[in-house]
Amino acid sequence: MAFSPVLESIMTKLKSLFQPIAMGELELKNRIVMTCANASGGGGKHVISYYAERARGGAGLLIVGGMYTFDTGPVKTVYGGRKDVTEEEASAIREFALYGEELLPGLREFTKTMHDNGAKVAAQLLMTYEWKRDWKTNREGPTELVSPSGGPSGARLGDTRAVTVDEIHQIVEEYGDAAMIAQQAGFDAIEIHAGIGYFLNQFLSPHTNRRTDEYGGSLENRMRMLLEIVDSCQKKTGKDFPIIARISAEDFIEGGNTLEDTKPIIMALERAGIVAIDVETGWHESPVPMVQQWVKPGAFVYLAEEVKKVVNIPVLTAYRIWDPILADRIIAEGRADLVGMARALVADPELPDKAREGGFDDINYCIACCRCLDTAIAGECPSCAVNARVGREAVYIIEPAAESKNVLIIGGGPAGMEAARVAALRGHKVTLCDRGRRLGGSLLLAGIMNPELPKFLKYQTRQVRKLPIEVRLNTEVDASFVERMKPDVVIVAAGGIPPTSEIPGIHRENVLSSHDMLMAMIRAPRKGGALQRFTWRLGSLALRYLDQPAIIRWALRFRFPFKKRVVIIGGGFAGCELADVLAERGKELTLLEESKRLGFDIGITTRWVVLMRLWKSGVRMERSAKVVEITEKGLKAMVGDSEAFFEADTVALTLPLETNDKLAGELEERGWTVHSVGDCAATGGRIMEAMAAGFRAGYEI
Ligand SMILES: Cc1cc2nc3c(=O)[nH]c(=O)nc-3n(C[C@H](O)[C@H](O)[C@H](O)COP(=O)(O)O)c2cc1C
Ligand code: SF4
Repeated sequence: MAFSPVLESIMTKLKSLFQPIAMGELELKNRIVMTCANASGGGGKHVISYYAERARGGAGLLIVGGMYTFDTGPVKTVYGGRKDVTEEEASAIREFALYGEELLPGLREFTKTMHDNGAKVAAQLLMTYEWKRDWKTNREGPTELVSPSGGPSGARLGDTRAVTVDEIHQIVEEYGDAAMIAQQAGFDAIEIHAGIGYFLNQFLSPHTNRRTDEYGGSLENRMRMLLEIVDSCQKKTGKDFPIIARISAEDFIEGGNTLEDTKPIIMALERAGIVAIDVETGWHESPVPMVQQWVKPGAFVYLAEEVKKVVNIPVLTAYRIWDPILADRIIAEGRADLVGMARALVADPELPDKAREGGFDDINYCIACCRCLDTAIAGECPSCAVNARVGREAVYIIEPAAESKNVLIIGGGPAGMEAARVAALRGHKVTLCDRGRRLGGSLLLAGIMNPELPKFLKYQTRQVRKLPIEVRLNTEVDASFVERMKPDVVIVAAGGIPPTSEIPGIHRENVLSSHDMLMAMIRAPRKGGALQRFTWRLGSLALRYLDQPAIIRWALRFRFPFKKRVVIIGGGFAGCELADVLAERGKELTLLEESKRLGFDIGITTRWVVLMRLWKSGVRMERSAKVVEITEKGLKAMVGDSEAFFEADTVALTLPLETNDKLAGELEERGWTVHSVGDCAATGGRIMEAMAAGFRAGYEI
């Protein structure tokens, strides 16, 4: 029987997750491993502070990097999916690597910091799609795309050159040297990354390895290089230095390795002496969603479970495990020995300690928005939507302000609540006003569309309630209110205004905008005839008083407020998300986007999944579609050069809100110190932008 997470948290004491475990010589205090979440793009002090915070948070092991085994040089050709790496980024990546003794002082400081903060730390040895054969003699030169057999690289980065047998030997040596550097630097273990479709994974897979020499063809030949690397590392470090291997147990690539193909590879690695296996999933280019919000938590544990049947070493499972209760259950049921969490610990480094103490409601859970992955793929230090400090831990240190001020915050959405939290933590006297009867602002609506968000709203609200913040709900703030309150600082986070649009028919009763929905959380919109107004009144009451986004989401299957045939204007994230939710509830959807790119504001990690879902659920999608007129029966649009009519019972407007500087301007004119954050200050922002702006506002007072 499944209980609600809250009930479960009361009933559950995590018995298994905090049991120690040994991996060869490596003893861990618990089963939580932070799998690699690359922060190298941040460089020096940022990398140390980023990981130190995660070490302090209670994870048993941090796997850090990936760290290159060769000098990528001051010019790096490729990083993640990007080709235009800046000099600064290239040198940051170059610093956190394992190619030479000159790196040892920095790396020793790094490992000492991790140990001082209570965690064991493993270095992930990484080759992605590129290499530099002559890096020892040509340190300034660029890297080159390489692969087992030549042809197009993974992640569509360009054409690769097949490495020669001599080069394979050189790479094997380099891995051994890198392992030795890691050992000398004080790392507790190394992890060899042979998954996700990177260079070593390509050797294992018949899909990419078409060699006819001793490194291609049979399985024995395809895994030869990886086993030689393990051997090379052991020769350079001694057999007792723990080696973990990260392998995609299933490539999810046509013609690639299946789980059954991978099992003998993992068994061979065990025989070769690795101490644990980190079961990864798929390749970057696999057409299977692996990390996005629609992937069920723990969806890939079955892979680890299968691997466990064929080896005796500890098996780590990862991907979409954000909930410590689920993690505990996985261990308790013997499905895996260790649980990998990357983004869960990016979002909240203290998750392990909080979970151990039973403080589940105080965990800032990852919402699987993948913005961190998007930033990492762009070669930057990851940023996080729900935690503005990520990647800036060295700079954003929350300390008491020199002088405590009276701070008035207008608007209790994500930006306002974050500003309130940070300002209160810094010792300011904060009053947070919102005109609604609940905190949350735009998150209340967003949480209906996206089931990942209510837990974040709950976390934010709880933090505000726990701090000495005066919360005034049902409170409309205007200039005279501010005059009466006389705060030292005002932060306006009151949200945006509906976009101005000249489209004929935009105010018809069959048109419903995101802003109408948002306003319905406060009062029923005056739309349509008597029946429609009555229904709106009921709907608005439900939105205001029924604090159950899941029920409201479920109720969208009925003919209110969206009828059967819905045309959505605006194919950005909001439009795509609405189309997805409504299509799932049996509506007939058409999505119109004026630009050439549907989902133009969705990050690289998520966009393809969104479009695939819309396509699978039969949503009609039109790009370059400029709306001409909305009528009673639907809407007329120019699609490219042709005019088309789209029949609709409801026309939904999801264009971004416009900024609203009216109140801020008025207050400034009267001499108040004002900061504007969130939708009222910048258009097109999402949770990450709101949180970042809210944090800064609270931090800078
Ligand atoms: C910002 C970021 C950077 C990552 N960098 C690496 C990396 O360098 N090597 C690696 O093996 N995995 C990397 N990953 C993948 C994670 O280790 C993990 O497998 C993936 O995020 C899924 O697990 P999760 O749902 O717990 O985040 C990265 C993940 C994130 C979020
Ligand atoms: S950016 Fe999104 S996916 Fe990444 S850790 Fe933060 S909440 Fe999770």
